Amino acid sequence: MSEAQIISGKELAGTVVEAVKMASSRLIKQTGIIPGIAVVIVGEDPASQVYVRSKGKKAEECGFLSRTHRLDDSVSEADLLALVESLNADKDIHGILVQLPLPGQISEEKVIETILPEKDVDGFHPINVGLLGSGNRTRAMIPCTPAGSLLLAKQALGDNLSGLNAVVVGRSNIVGKPVAALLLQESCTVTIAHSRTKEIEALCRTADILVAAVGRPQMIKTDWIKPGATIIDVGINRIDAPEKGEGKTRLVGDVDYDDALSVAGAVTPVPGGVGPMTIAMLMANTATAAARAAGRPDLEPALSL
Ligand code: GUN
Repeated sequence: MSEAQIISGKELAGTVVEAVKMASSRLIKQTGIIPGIAVVIVGEDPASQVYVRSKGKKAEECGFLSRTHRLDDSVSEADLLALVESLNADKDIHGILVQLPLPGQISEEKVIETILPEKDVDGFHPINVGLLGSGNRTRAMIPCTPAGSLLLAKQALGDNLSGLNAVVVGRSNIVGKPVAALLLQESCTVTIAHSRTKEIEALCRTADILVAAVGRPQMIKTDWIKPGATIIDVGINRIDAPEKGEGKTRLVGDVDYDDALSVAGAVTPVPGGVGPMTIAMLMANTATAAARAAGRPDLEPALSL
């Protein structure tokens, strides 16, 4: 049986980061402006700590100014909003990311809406959501995981996705909805499937591009996959792995990887697929925000988004 192409997110992320470094060094040389990112983390959630550390490391690797603000999980909403306001006013900072989720006393909506849209490198602000929805990519900040997912699909299929059937499984604001908007912009015929979708297997089997972003380990099996399809697996789920020893775990996606390998045309692995792309796109958004702030959109990183 033929095996699917494995789309390496690690490799493509490396290419994106090289493009970011090139754009950023041109920006620095021509304007003296160094891209700056501030990451805010509230509390001690171990997964968030890992993400935030790798974001900081990658920003330094790109030659950015990188600041991390660590706040106690008892911080008040007012204090967090005041920090965001001070970062909005800080000329050295072009990108602000507040790691989610936030503790219960803080409204995520309020925090997101307080970040200046042009510094919102997550692309979560309603202004950016609207700009993406209305197809204004020259002004929008595009959310990182959806942008990375699109580049991975193009890596397998080439830049022209016009007319392809795309099914996005999952309707979250962070991934499902924005990835659907991006694919629509690429002239795909897009369907968003979710927990209430009828005959979801048969629907998924119509997909030339299948994006899985539901957070259910290995939900998508052979029968869900059209032979030759391109599968973008956004899920990162930790499951027990008794075969590795007692108490051991491993990471799997929302797609059964072995099933996908035997049916699909191309598939992203977990880990090493969408994950590294998310961080790379955050760096791209930071460099983009800095170039726009300098009035030099021509110095944005060159990516076929
Ligand atoms: N938590 C999990 N994913 C993300 C993300 O992409 N951005 C932010 N801010 N928090 C997250």
